[in-house]
Amino acid sequence: MGKERILVTSALPYANGPLHIGHAIGAYIPADVYTRYHRLKGNDVIFICGTDEHGTPIAVTAEQEGIPPKRVADNYHKLIKKTFSDIGVSFDNFSRTTRELHYKNSQEFFLRILEKGFVYKKTVERPYCPVCKRFLPDRYVRGTCPYCGSKDERGDQCERCGKQLEPHELLDSYCAICGSSPEQKKTEHWFFRLSEFSERLNEWISEQKHWPDNARNFSLGWISEGLEDRAITRDMEWGVPVPLRNAEGKVLYVWFDAPIGYISSTQEWNAKGWRDYWQNPDCKIVHFIGKDNIPFHTIIWPAMLMAHGDYTLPWQISSNEYLNLEGRKMSTSRGWVLWLHDILGEFSPDLVRYYLLSINPANHDSDFSLKEFQHRVNSELIGTLGNFINRVLVFIKQNRGGIVPEPVEFDDLDSRILETIRGAPGRVGREIKEFRFQPALNALLATAAEGNEYFQHKEPWKRENGTTLYLCANLTRTLAILMHPFLPFSARRVWEMLGLNGRVEEQEWVSAGESPIEGGHKIGSVEPLYEKIEDKKIDAFGKKFLKPGSESKMDILKFEEFKGMDLRVGRIKRVEDIEGADRLYLLRVDLGSLGERQLVAGIKDTYKKKELTGKEIVVVANLEPAIIRGYKSEGMLLAADLDGKPVFLVPEREVKEGAKIR
Ligand code: MSP
Ligand code: ZN
Repeated sequence: MGKERILVTSALPYANGPLHIGHAIGAYIPADVYTRYHRLKGNDVIFICGTDEHGTPIAVTAEQEGIPPKRVADNYHKLIKKTFSDIGVSFDNFSRTTRELHYKNSQEFFLRILEKGFVYKKTVERPYCPVCKRFLPDRYVRGTCPYCGSKDERGDQCERCGKQLEPHELLDSYCAICGSSPEQKKTEHWFFRLSEFSERLNEWISEQKHWPDNARNFSLGWISEGLEDRAITRDMEWGVPVPLRNAEGKVLYVWFDAPIGYISSTQEWNAKGWRDYWQNPDCKIVHFIGKDNIPFHTIIWPAMLMAHGDYTLPWQISSNEYLNLEGRKMSTSRGWVLWLHDILGEFSPDLVRYYLLSINPANHDSDFSLKEFQHRVNSELIGTLGNFINRVLVFIKQNRGGIVPEPVEFDDLDSRILETIRGAPGRVGREIKEFRFQPALNALLATAAEGNEYFQHKEPWKRENGTTLYLCANLTRTLAILMHPFLPFSARRVWEMLGLNGRVEEQEWVSAGESPIEGGHKIGSVEPLYEKIEDKKIDAFGKKFLKPGSESKMDILKFEEFKGMDLRVGRIKRVEDIEGADRLYLLRVDLGSLGERQLVAGIKDTYKKKELTGKEIVVVANLEPAIIRGYKSEGMLLAADLDGKPVFLVPEREVKEGAKIR
């Protein structure tokens, strides 16, 4: 069979908070296993993602914290990207929807389907806040879910029952920013003729027999209820502007631009080659998502692609159900959540990947429990897989001076384990190929378990003819390759301990069925692969990280903001008044190596000009310049609040201008 061409995407996470364990297993770790497997198969596979930075999820967070939306996105993009790299999710490109290329793509996409007649303008009524004086799209409205009665839900979707909502459907609704009750007001929006695609979608989805049940059933059910045209614009500032005249204050709906982000990220990865994936019927496009994303990926996005006309439709939608935490639904707004960076701070990434894959919520919601995490890691990952690898390597090291012995003769048990080696890549690979990640992991563990049994039966510590250790060394190599998609960090270590050439990720998947390690091969240095999780450690971890609101999303945002600030000592060189501004001074500040800056500061109430000249102060030096009263202000001063008046924070001794504050 020739090479397959595959484009794998994972849902673009909103850059309005850190990643939690539910995100990780919902849309990213299974996609990573799938991609790593196809890389070893030698297929032409790319793995594409990025942060989703528009829409009310970002805008509302920003407003509540008094930080511009772009900075909210900057902070979380950085944190999310690092967390993915720490847990070994191996994207080929990780982009952002705030990049220019993506604005251009989204606007062109909109214009194209407008020209083709699939978009029209209509006047509608929308919730409007009389106090904030603006429309309240999506998450700007909160209220009671009309379906399940849950209070304080958001206007786009109920966190409790998962229903998609329109802001006006909420009962007792109020403005998320000021709490006022909204009025209905007329406004114009652009609508996508989704209704026209009912038949085509129905036909197409009916043929997708290989889709998971949740995606297929939901989609066919929705179509049979009748698809309605959908507004693809919103009244707000933050987002991709509607590329038409007379459309001020209107942006594209975040769920219109976000999936186009998959294309933009692929273009960013390869400006020339991206069409081979997106506009090539031979390429299989696979979207990994959690269940709340199903309607957007099985109905709206394919209809957008049909309307556009140049693109291939998705081949597979791998849609997971939800992960809960200790028997309760996770809720970031209620503080019941386990952040991925917290668990990765205490446990190595493969332990987390192992447990999450072992409870992969493929067919039903599943539950993360710290005790079970400890138990499964200790008894399965360490007790079965780690145990086999360690005892083999340690035995060769201690009793054979680190040299793999020559095989002598093969008895029945030996031949059987040779068969295990031959069949292993097929048994594991078949499951991954079919998106059955937990069974795939089980097949890997079963292979290690056979190794343990073999070792136990052969009792090499009593007598041993070379064949046993020769086969065990080769089975260890098999496991290293098969581990790579699931447990990339430990697979690499096993490869090194075996003293093999090259890197495990450069091997061919089928070669895991061979036994190329020969008698006389010298293995590398051996160390235990994993460390058992002790009661003390897991209990302490639970106490610290599993209490509602222990460290909220907002604290993390503030901390990221702070980390991103460049604080410097500056010396005030000159102070001038600003005409007509009673409280402002115009300052000239020397920042040493950063040069001189002009600052506008509201400190006239507290400080006289004389007091200021020559004084050392602390400046936030990496902010976008702002224009205040017509003057450019290139930074901010740090001050403490004394009854509403600013008091400077100053260095306790003279330091050089421009000195960094750590
Ligand atoms: N930004 C959208 C996706 C746009 S795709 C063009 C989004 N972002 S999200 O940050 O809220 O979620 C990211 C992914 O994690 C989504 O696929 C979502 O379904 C998934 N999950 C979020 N919580 C989850 C669980 N508790 N369990 C499983 N998956 C979860 O949605
Ligand atoms: Zn309001």
